[in-house]
Amino acid sequence: MSGQDFGPSAAAADLERRDVLAGGLVGGIGILATLPAGEAEAAAVAVRGETSSRLSVTINQAPHDVDIDNRVSLLDLLRERLGLFGTKKGCDHGQCGACTVHIDGRRVASCLTPAVQTSGRSITTIEGIAQGDKLHPMQAAFIEHDALQCGYCTPGQIMAAIACVGEGHATSPDHIREYMSGNICRCGAYANIVAAILSAAPKMERE
Ligand code: FES
Ligand code: FES
Repeated sequence: MSGQDFGPSAAAADLERRDVLAGGLVGGIGILATLPAGEAEAAAVAVRGETSSRLSVTINQAPHDVDIDNRVSLLDLLRERLGLFGTKKGCDHGQCGACTVHIDGRRVASCLTPAVQTSGRSITTIEGIAQGDKLHPMQAAFIEHDALQCGYCTPGQIMAAIACVGEGHATSPDHIREYMSGNICRCGAYANIVAAILSAAPKMERE
């Protein structure tokens, strides 16, 4: 038999396909219920096939409501839409760490993070870590230990370094090197970066 088959077996197969799709959707909705808020919202947006979203997010302790294209990365939202140029774009592929920011205190590569996934979350960038004129101990340590040359990687290094200390990984130069290995410095300032982190860690614990 040539062409499409519209007989009973084809109808049954079609019904099965619909059941599978419906089951998939129901299962998908069940999975959504188990995801963290931001990721669940992103997944729900994908299921609904929407191309833009209203994003409510806290950045450096200030609330922001912004309409975004669902494809935009957190890095591009910060730099292109909100003018927070401290976070740098290096590789834009998750390989250099220049774009490191914190989401709810955890370090992430903002170039790999869809902005829509950050709904309801709290983001901290390099612009948000000083207290007025008082530098964060990690910023002060980077200056004191001359832990930068061109400075392009430095915001990402500092955000990763703060997280490294917070995670309890700044216990030795070897540990610091291991847990900072996702942050590349093309100027090769690694020795001074490690020294800065070792020096800032006890100060951060005292604060
Ligand atoms: S710009 Fe994000 S990891 Fe390189
Ligand atoms: S200081 Fe130049 S890339 Fe790190």
